[in-house]
Amino acid sequence: MEEAVISTSTSAVELEGITKRFPGVVANSNVSLSVQRGHVHAIVGENGAGKSTLMKILYGMQRPDEGEIRVNGAPVSFRSPSDSIAAGIGMVHQHFMLADNLTVLENVVLGSEPRKGGIAIDFGSARKKIKQISDTYGLGVDPDMLVEDLGVGARQRVEILKVLYRGARILILDEPTAVLVPQEVDELFGNLRELVREGLTIIFISHKLDEVLSVADAITVIRRGTTVASVNPKDVTARQLAELMVGSELPSPETRESTVTDVVALSVRNLSVHSPDERCIVDGVTFDIRKGEVLGIAGVEGNGQAELVEAIMGMRPADGEIRLGEEDISAWSTLRRREAGIGYIPEDRHRHGLLLEAPLWENRILGHQTRKPNVKGPWIDRAGARRDTQRIVEQYDVRTPGIDVDAAALSGGNQQKLIVGREMSGDPVFLIASHPTRGVDVGAQAAIWDHLRAARAAGLAVLLISADLDELIGLSDTLKVILRGRVVADVDPQNVTPEQLGSAMTGAGEAA
Ligand SMILES: Nc1ncnc2c1ncn2[C@@H]1O[C@H](COP(=O)(O)OP(=O)(O)OP(=O)(O)O)[C@@H](O)[C@H]1O
Ligand SMILES: [Mg+2]
Repeated sequence: MEEAVISTSTSAVELEGITKRFPGVVANSNVSLSVQRGHVHAIVGENGAGKSTLMKILYGMQRPDEGEIRVNGAPVSFRSPSDSIAAGIGMVHQHFMLADNLTVLENVVLGSEPRKGGIAIDFGSARKKIKQISDTYGLGVDPDMLVEDLGVGARQRVEILKVLYRGARILILDEPTAVLVPQEVDELFGNLRELVREGLTIIFISHKLDEVLSVADAITVIRRGTTVASVNPKDVTARQLAELMVGSELPSPETRESTVTDVVALSVRNLSVHSPDERCIVDGVTFDIRKGEVLGIAGVEGNGQAELVEAIMGMRPADGEIRLGEEDISAWSTLRRREAGIGYIPEDRHRHGLLLEAPLWENRILGHQTRKPNVKGPWIDRAGARRDTQRIVEQYDVRTPGIDVDAAALSGGNQQKLIVGREMSGDPVFLIASHPTRGVDVGAQAAIWDHLRAARAAGLAVLLISADLDELIGLSDTLKVILRGRVVADVDPQNVTPEQLGSAMTGAGEAA
């Protein structure tokens, strides 16, 4: 990296008086922030506080209405990400942006292909450079793997490598740990320390306050679009940080008395899923979930839990038997399963949960297009759908200027709240909850847990999948560990620590 201007400033980034308005919302209001070079600087704040918007402005994806940006002491004006990339800034987004069906190499060079003699892409030298970056920072990235074969932790490292490949010295990571299990978080933090040791600067957004305290050198708290505090992580506890963010205490996922009944709501027998190349991804899984019971599945992502869920939803061919109450639903379509009372909070809210370019009230209808309150006779009932969307917005505290804005205009955590509200609507008998609180702030997390507990007490059966082990242990009545597609252990949630569960998940020490 040749640095054009040798600056004496110790700040990598200074944002001053940044204001950004969207229709009906002030996303950033006179925000000022200074990030020191060589720091991991955390930004925390409730859902919709304006964190991602501020970072998109720094990355040139959005133009501020007011304010100044300085990089290494020099004022800049970015019209697009390519301008900010040229200034040494890179961003890893809240939602993954890799193309599944391409290799790591192809993904990394997409958009910045090295050319040989002006025409052909020089994959040879790109591969060499990727290996070199991977080795330098201990990322362990193999350029020739297909992205779809990588787990989320590895995808995360590819996203980071892609940014480094473009020469970034200032890295923005928007909720990089939301999808990771604790071991992967540790690895990521190891990588981050390696990067700052090399003189890079990292801006890090997270709702997991313990992690923030363990990795950050400085913390800025944003609330309702503006900075409310800058704190030294050594001087605050997670509890105090939560109070600064949302003005409430840290929630606990503890469930109280058992509500498990004798009535089986969902029964899965010998369920297997094969990949197109005949690999066994889910291998003979069997379990029952009773009314009022939460069955948790613990596992490092990529061990078959996504495929298990898709098989139960009828989105993926599978062998074995699935019964909902008395009915064998194994051959039913996804829509019919939903109509029979299966709610589904998907792990990837953009791929399976929302139509980003459609208004909130149309998203209320998605997956529920044949049921009340969205239909009246054979027709879509717009008024009914709109009214019920308004109810969800209120009950689930979806922060939005209205139900006519597109889902894309909601912050990540607020999109999640909308999906949870929709899937808990209409009294489902069985709910699949994949990472139900992924990306939501500590206050909203507590609210979602309350909704789940109330529904469980009313007889809902829940299949819970989560990378958040405290959530998994706290909410589950029964807990199973999945490894390479098989259930390898039953764990008592009353008597297991996150550490023990973590080792059971990696197959280390056959914990029981
Ligand atoms: N493209 C857009 N159009 C309209 N409003 C938007 C747009 N992007 C963001 N907003 C609004 O700006 C506000 C800040 O959103 P932002 O995504 O920055 O929040 P956040 O702090 O990243 O929240 P989260 O923790 O949920 O990701 C929200 O009210 C959001 O609805
Ligand atoms: Mg965000």
